[in-house]
Amino acid sequence: MKTSYEVAVIGGGIIGSAIAYYLAKEQIDVAVFEENQIGAKATSAAAGMLGAHSECEGDVNVFFPFARYSQSLYSKLKDELYGLSGIDLGYRKGGILKLAFSDRDKKELATMLAQPTVTWLEAEEVRKLERDVSPHIVGAAYIQDDINVLPIGVCQAFAKSAQVMGASIFDYTKVLHIKKQHDTFLIETTRGLVEAKRVVIASGVWSTTFFKELGLQYQMTPVKGECISVTDEQAVLKHTIFHDKYYIVPRNNGKLVIGATMKENDWTEQVSLNGIETLIQKAKELLPTSAHMKIDSVWSGLRPQTFDQKPFIGHHPEDESILFATGHYRNGILLAPATGEMIANLILKRDVKKEWIEAFRIDRGKPLTV
Ligand code: FAD
Ligand code: GLY
Repeated sequence: MKTSYEVAVIGGGIIGSAIAYYLAKEQIDVAVFEENQIGAKATSAAAGMLGAHSECEGDVNVFFPFARYSQSLYSKLKDELYGLSGIDLGYRKGGILKLAFSDRDKKELATMLAQPTVTWLEAEEVRKLERDVSPHIVGAAYIQDDINVLPIGVCQAFAKSAQVMGASIFDYTKVLHIKKQHDTFLIETTRGLVEAKRVVIASGVWSTTFFKELGLQYQMTPVKGECISVTDEQAVLKHTIFHDKYYIVPRNNGKLVIGATMKENDWTEQVSLNGIETLIQKAKELLPTSAHMKIDSVWSGLRPQTFDQKPFIGHHPEDESILFATGHYRNGILLAPATGEMIANLILKRDVKKEWIEAFRIDRGKPLTV
């Protein structure tokens, strides 16, 4: 293996892979180091919603526009990445129905309904779109232009496309330590020592060890999520249906993903009976006909959560040659293109919106006291 790179990216989930893609596109000599298989962790657990509206309604000034921008990049990426890698992103239009079971639920959708791209539908109108949805709804917020993708496909397509353009991708290669000597980083990996001029920490929920090693007292906490995949033989569901953090997402391959649990601070990666029970109950509530569907598989993953549930994207406060791109919590698939592009622009010293730099800087909150 070559032992010297311009940029070393630590972590080959969707975030690290997107960064490699945007850097390789600019002919930057980049290497990705991934402890497991590319995309094996949180990325492969994701449902794949590009839920700019349904997941980011809380912050309409910065986070929502960033999410919408990232979502918009996918329409070009699906062809660009397919052309380079031959991997299908599973890009699927169809929209999301955010269901309301009561007037209180409807009130909670108010911020989202204020967006021009969201429409309120009464229960009978929802049923025209989705015949089998719960009989107990009062209506739904309909977001016609939300999309979903196959997360592992997107991640592999980013990594493969980056490789085609010259990036080095090392899977099954764990980074053990990072040290700076003069202007160069010495990166100790399970395959030997490599050097790089810059490092990008994109190690998801496992980033805390690198924060510490690079002199920062910040923390990432896991929020475990479990999912079930079922076969929808009749292809009943056309839209994603969503209620109270739970959802059923139809994929292009005839499967429905039922997700997801939210277990704070749970580092275990096994699926629990309680988790499955909760998901089955929720699926039957949202889509009663799902009771007869056959289980195809179950899985779980760890969402990387920061203190304010917004990602860390940007430079180390004291060293511009260290960058962070981690903590994407519930939205890493949605935010990967904009994150990859932003990191590449920062490295190339191109303009990046000031409000994005401020919103995502790692030192926006207080460091932990130890
Ligand atoms: P990861 O995919 O976890 O990648 C980090 C990588 O770093 C890992 O592969 C790990 O092996 C590697 N690594 C760690 N330490 C080292 C080391 N020392 N050396 C080398 N490699 C290392 N988001 C959406 O946008 N839409 C959704 O519908 C959605 N649904 C979700 C459903 C569930 C159940 C879960 C759990 C998450 C969901 N998410 C969704 C969130 C999304 O999956 C994450 O935000 C995203 O995958 C984070 O990507 P990442 O690359 O930062 O992390
Ligand atoms: N964004 C969906 C999830 O994290 O479960």
